[in-house]
Amino acid sequence: MMKKIFIASDHAGFELKEYLKGFLADKDLEVEDLGCDNEESVDYPEYGRKLAELVAGDEGTRGILICGTGVGMSITANRVSGVRASLCSEPLSAKLTRLHNDSNVLVLGGRVIGKTMAEEITDVWLSTEFEGGRHQRRLDKIEK
Ligand code: RB5
Repeated sequence: MMKKIFIASDHAGFELKEYLKGFLADKDLEVEDLGCDNEESVDYPEYGRKLAELVAGDEGTRGILICGTGVGMSITANRVSGVRASLCSEPLSAKLTRLHNDSNVLVLGGRVIGKTMAEEITDVWLSTEFEGGRHQRRLDKIEK
């Protein structure tokens, strides 16, 4: 059961982050915004690493990261052991990465997808449960 969701972006993801915060506020979820706080240029690794370390440190949490393409945030977050960050541009990948990868960080490209697509992706990623079984064996091999 997820108890809290962190959200963070760089300047290129700021607009979509602010939009998604409103979308998440309508759900029964605790949301913590880790920045950035405006569209002034910042370095995505600072925000990506901070969120990834918080998610890795508490199993009951998940995170959403947004940069321009989503690629820089994905590279950053997946360096942190225990984080399974998934860059998604459509809902099928969001569903399958929860079912098969037990994704705990969703990554979006603020310059790649629109707001409605981001909502659809986020909805399915939040509501899909991990399947376990053979997929857990594969996840264990990632961490070894
Ligand atoms: C920032 O200009 C941009 O490089 C960043 O948001 C991201 O797309 C990096 O992967």
